[in-house]
Amino acid sequence: MSQHPKLAILGFGTMGQAISAGLVEASGYPADRIQAADLHPAAGKARAGVLGIQLSNAVEATAQAAEVLLLCVKPKELKGLLAGLTAAGALEHRPLVVSIAAGTTLAFLTEHTPAGTPLIRAMPNTPCSIRRGMTVLAAGQGVSEAQLAQARTLFEPLGRVMDLDEKHMDAVTGLSASGPAFMFVILESLAEGGVQCGLPRAVAVELAAQMTLGAAAMVLETGRHPAALKDEVTTPAGCTIAGLMVLEDGRIRSVVARGIERATQVAAGLG
Ligand SMILES: NC(=O)c1ccc[n+]([C@@H]2O[C@H](COP(=O)([O-])OP(=O)(O)OC[C@H]3O[C@@H](n4cnc5c(N)ncnc54)[C@H](OP(=O)(O)O)[C@@H]3O)[C@@H](O)[C@H]2O)c1
Repeated sequence: MSQHPKLAILGFGTMGQAISAGLVEASGYPADRIQAADLHPAAGKARAGVLGIQLSNAVEATAQAAEVLLLCVKPKELKGLLAGLTAAGALEHRPLVVSIAAGTTLAFLTEHTPAGTPLIRAMPNTPCSIRRGMTVLAAGQGVSEAQLAQARTLFEPLGRVMDLDEKHMDAVTGLSASGPAFMFVILESLAEGGVQCGLPRAVAVELAAQMTLGAAAMVLETGRHPAALKDEVTTPAGCTIAGLMVLEDGRIRSVVARGIERATQVAAGLG
């Protein structure tokens, strides 16, 4: 397999496009090594054109020509996709199959693919489109180190990659895959606070976003606990502790944590 295996992206919606954009625009994956297929390709034509990747509705033929298949359809669409691929013999060459579908287990994938198909679950997120993604991988039985490395090579240019046991995948989905949506709401709320206090909206959004980026980078780069970093900002009788008291009155910790818990529960039922 070359450094850039022939990649088929099956399902060219939000995630298919985000991953393609990250690969082509940010990591230099040759566009001619990627083919995308979607049942209704018209919606993705413009994006595929900008990226320079081929997009068609020839799902089975696209799969047949690829070394790695990235399944980017909704969980409820996966069974039909795999049935079509299997019936057409498009998995007979045993490509590496990587599914990003939430809540869809390796056992399910094994059941709906020919015996011996190497299977990996991946859980990326939309920031993969700008190389700030978080992807967690869980390999199925019989996947070789080389095949796992192949999947890592695909996602590493798009951000951080971590290998975890499959039992954690629903929690990963609730936290780092749904998480960008939660953070956008929190960012919006931070900016609203700035607007309420007189900042122009564009300024408030920029301050909120850059501050969030900086705070997250401090956690990742220093390896220190968020609580310790918070304490450093919080001077006695100062403005920060006054603001924190209001957030605690609103039960911010349990509200956010329970949001992740609920998303995890729903993710588990999606397959
Ligand atoms: N969105 C996220 O932030 C996120 C993050 C991590 C993981 N995921 C996972 O990523 C997967 C895709 O999510 P998404 O948000 O990208 O969904 P999406 O925007 O609905 O994209 C799915 C695409 O697949 C197409 N499709 C359906 N059946 C197909 C088939 N048999 N062959 C080829 N294409 C087919 C759909 O076409 P039609 O619409 O015309 O049916 C649609 O364009 C899901 O399984 C989700 O759990 C999503």
